[in-house]
Amino acid sequence: MKTDEPPCAQSPDIHHTSPPEVLIPPSAVLIRSPVTPNDRPKLLITAGPTHEPIDAVRFLGNRSSGTLGIALAQDAAARGWPTTLLLGPTPASPDHPDIRLLRFTTTADLESLLRDHAPACDALIMAAAVADFRPPKPADTRSKINRGDGPMTLHLDPTPDLISGASKLKRPGQLFVGFALEPRASMLDAARGKLERKGLDLIVANPLETMDAPDIEATILSRRTPGAEIQSRSYPPMPKPAFARELIDTIARLL
Ligand code: CTP
Repeated sequence: MKTDEPPCAQSPDIHHTSPPEVLIPPSAVLIRSPVTPNDRPKLLITAGPTHEPIDAVRFLGNRSSGTLGIALAQDAAARGWPTTLLLGPTPASPDHPDIRLLRFTTTADLESLLRDHAPACDALIMAAAVADFRPPKPADTRSKINRGDGPMTLHLDPTPDLISGASKLKRPGQLFVGFALEPRASMLDAARGKLERKGLDLIVANPLETMDAPDIEATILSRRTPGAEIQSRSYPPMPKPAFARELIDTIARLL
């Protein structure tokens, strides 16, 4: 893994020198290599579950494995796109050497990483299964709740909607992608609502069975400008790496 400056934060190397004396034909100046690093979109991907501690040994979590987000990062890195993966607590991890990998545990950790990395990226793919609720204040992780203390009630507050927060700061030209994991019957309606409400350009609707499974049966809903008609494309069930390729292709066309 790279440990140097994040790809999203890299700035062009600017030299202040006098114009060169050598005469270069205008046609040569206009030719741009299609594969210079600055041409490649900078991708920020979040993946995996969040864990919200309730004491020293327990947490609230979910069954997300991070598989799709990891496959997306691998596919983008293989194309030479500078890729940062924010990955939650899952045993899985990417093996492409060019992926910059940063780990999070809680929703608060992920919120802070997004604050640091989202502004400079060209596309944000929010595949993380973020907790909807957490204890109102960080748990005391030095002690353990005992069963002998009798029945207990766990008070939970809703978490902030991270992608909605990031969308409010979205720059023109940035592309934000969300996911909607929903019961099949209500999946598309829910996804359309989330696309609008969360200020997204694209959302991947997929049924509940996708979580922690090797395959995905997805519909991509997209809209490049607010108010425009929503386009939709449904895919047959396929392994997550195959769908990752389709989604990165779609993002490449929209950027
Ligand atoms: N998401 C987020 N912050 C949260 C919860 C979800 O950024 N606190 C993101 C997810 O990463 C995903 C999208 O929002 O890309 C939809 O997640 P989902 O859990 O379906 O949305 P919720 O806002 O939690 O909606 P619901 O009311 O259905 O729970």
